[in-house]
This record gives sequence, C-alpha cells and structure tokens, in this order.
Amino acid sequence: MSQAVNFAKRMVLWNAAVPGLLLAYDAWRGNLGGNPINFSIRTTGMLSLIMLVLSLAVTPLVRWAGWGWLGASRRTLGLYAFAYGLAHFLLFFGLDREWSLASTWSEIALRPYLAIGGASLLIMLPLAATSTNAMIRALGGARWKQLHRLAYAAAILGCLHYLLLVKADIRLPVVFFVVLGGLLLSRFIPTRSRSLPPRRPLPESRGPAAG
Ligand code: HEM
Repeated sequence: MSQAVNFAKRMVLWNAAVPGLLLAYDAWRGNLGGNPINFSIRTTGMLSLIMLVLSLAVTPLVRWAGWGWLGASRRTLGLYAFAYGLAHFLLFFGLDREWSLASTWSEIALRPYLAIGGASLLIMLPLAATSTNAMIRALGGARWKQLHRLAYAAAILGCLHYLLLVKADIRLPVVFFVVLGGLLLSRFIPTRSRSLPPRRPLPESRGPAAG
C-alpha cells in the first residue's frame, strides 16, 4: 500500500472517531444540554447515517474524481457506520428503555420508524461481520460485492427512519435522500473508460495478411 493511501486511511480512521470522542467527553463533563439521553441518541444516529452515506460515496469518488487513495477507507467508514449505529441502539436500549427488553420491544412494535431503524442496523450487522480480508476470501469477491450492495438498503432505511421521526422540518432527511439517490444513480452511469469505443486490434494480431 502506498504512503499516500496509508496516510489517507489513518486520517479517516482517526477523524471519524473524533465526533464520538467529543460526545463522550461532553457526556463526562455533563455538557449535553437539558435532555442528554435524547441528545446522545440523536447524535450517534446522525453519525451512523453520515458514515454510511460517506462509505457509499467512496466508489463514485474513486471512479469519477480519480481519488484512488480513498478506496481503502470505504471499509473503515462502513465499520464506523455500524459502530455508531450500535452505540445509538445501545443508548436507546440502556438509557431510554433502562435495559428492559420488553419495553424496548413494545416501543419498536409501536413505532414503525423504530422498526425501520432496527432493520437498517440488522442489515449492517452481516456487512460489518464480513468486512475482514479473511471473510472476503471465504465468500469470494463476487458474492462479497453482492452482499455489500445491501449497504444501500441500510442507508435507504436509515433515511426513512430519520424522515419519519422528524416532526416538522423535513429538509435534512430529504437532503440525505437526494444525495443517496445520486450515489445510487451513479452506479448505473458507465465510467469514461467503459464508454470508450472498443480498441482496434494490435497490428500483430491481425494475421499474416495484414503485415
Ligand atoms: C434498533 C435500531 C434503532 C433504534 C431503536 C433507533 C432509535 C432512535 C431514536 C429513539 C431516535 C430519537 C428520536 C427522537 O428524538 O424523537 C433516533 C434518531 C435518529 N436515528 Fe435511530 N434508531 C435505530 C437505528 C438507526 C440507524 C441504523 C440509523 C442510521 C443508519 C439511525 C439514524 C437516526 C437518525 C439520523 C436520527 C435523528 C438524528 C437527529 O435528529 O439529529 N437510527 N433513533
């Protein structure tokens, strides 16, 4: 791995942890405002969605902007999306529902937006579990790629969860949907190299008559 790729990977690894560390620091200092539980649930939910969308933006940026150095960070961003999503759920389960399975379950059954958030997190679980090099080898490149397309489903459900929970101002969830739609569409646009006309055969492959 080149030095530039390694540097970029480390930058992403450390920087993506910063908002979570700041949240933990503010919680420790008692600086989370009037409703600290809700603040921390909302912050981790937002971080999970942002990391998920950023991880999906990596491939288009590599393909369209030529940012090849970013490619190695896709997995890091995806794992952060899962980690923040898990923290988001645990904060809800532990602090909001006081570790009560019954209360958590009845709340999720009662509010569709929670079930949708749960589905998004459940989809991310096998993606995180299969993110190691050993799992990529075990599944084979093609099957691994197919499985990891589910990240789009997780992101769509995450956006829907967000859209359904906001009471009045839906602008931000709509922005997430538009960005996600753009990323999804970009998958279907052929890259420049693919749309080039087929290469002419090399002179030596035209056979003796061409010589
Ligand atoms: C079982 C899983 C989940 C549960 C129980 C859950 C629960 C919640 C709750 C209780 C809130 C705050 C609602 C309010 O204040 O009215 C919330 C907000 C949010 N959640 Fe989740 N969530 C889950 C999964 C997810 C996942 C996987 C994502 C991201 C992909 C996500 C993204 C968000 C976002 C973006 C917000 C709003 C943040 C804001 O208002 O700034 N959630 N969630």
